Amino acid sequence: MNRNFALEFVRVSEAAALASARWMGRGEKNSADRAAVEAMRKAFDTIDFHGVVKIGEGERDKAPMLYIGEKVGKGLCSGSKKLDLALDPLEGTSICASGGMNALSVIAIAEEGNFLHAPDVYMEKIAVGPKAVGAVSLQNTVAQNLHNVAEAKRCSIKDLTVVVLDRPRHEKIISEIRELGARIWLIGDGDVQAAIATAMEQSGVDILMGVGGAPEGVISAAALKCIGGDFCGRLVFHNEDSRSRALLMGIKDLNRNYSIDDLAAGNVMFCATGVTDGSLLKGVKFFGGGARTHSLVMRSETGTVRFIETSHNFEKKPNYNFI
Ligand code: FBP
Repeated sequence: MNRNFALEFVRVSEAAALASARWMGRGEKNSADRAAVEAMRKAFDTIDFHGVVKIGEGERDKAPMLYIGEKVGKGLCSGSKKLDLALDPLEGTSICASGGMNALSVIAIAEEGNFLHAPDVYMEKIAVGPKAVGAVSLQNTVAQNLHNVAEAKRCSIKDLTVVVLDRPRHEKIISEIRELGARIWLIGDGDVQAAIATAMEQSGVDILMGVGGAPEGVISAAALKCIGGDFCGRLVFHNEDSRSRALLMGIKDLNRNYSIDDLAAGNVMFCATGVTDGSLLKGVKFFGGGARTHSLVMRSETGTVRFIETSHNFEKKPNYNFI
């Protein structure tokens, strides 16, 4: 995949972050999401590629834009690259609406056919950074996984920090982790940034466990593939309807344990821009006549991890002045 694409796509996540950041703390998560979606859609069409949304805002009848299967990109040249996209214009809609931490705009890019066509259901997940690759499995007990990660990181289980979404469904796993003596960081929302944090030494986070969105699982797997971390996922269905939708989308084995490569195969690129301040990225800061954004751009082929701070001048780029 052309290495310039990741640097092109960061403009798209920047545009979505700038648009949704205007809605920070205003209590309107749908407006924040809509602003991000519209800005992302528009920005994609300035890039010369043929893109298909594989993980997006939902199925066609439910999402007016960036729906699964939607084609994006300028695609002018007959030789324009065909790419698949797994995206979330605003990951953490409630976080943004309440002015909380760690809302992001994210895009993962792969060659045609390389992302799991995941339905909008839940996914049981485990994410770890490079030192713990191969140490975790959804077939292991919580104790086995924590023991393996501690051994891989040459530390005690008591020194591990596990991120878990703060949900009633996680009561059992939380009490098991507490029993083992590991530390827990309970998050209200936003498990993509938490999955990435497991691979960033300075974050102090070692492992993400629990059940979150399946689309977010594919995006997290793509991000961890770029940094060299590991990810395991299994779809979780709560009713017959979600099971039949998955079958319709081509999922053959509903109980399958997915590896990182099953979710994001081949070479992958990833970019994210902070919407609100977080442990990984700074949020959008508006100043008179412009704004500053902070983004992360990565490629699995080279393992390069770039942080980009951008100053946007609204006088010269009036499209970014979404007033
Ligand atoms: P949104 O951006 O769609 O609000 O998702 C936020 C999120 O916290 C994800 O990071 C996570 O995977 C999912 O929601 C968890 O779903 P639920 O809130 O239903 O437990």
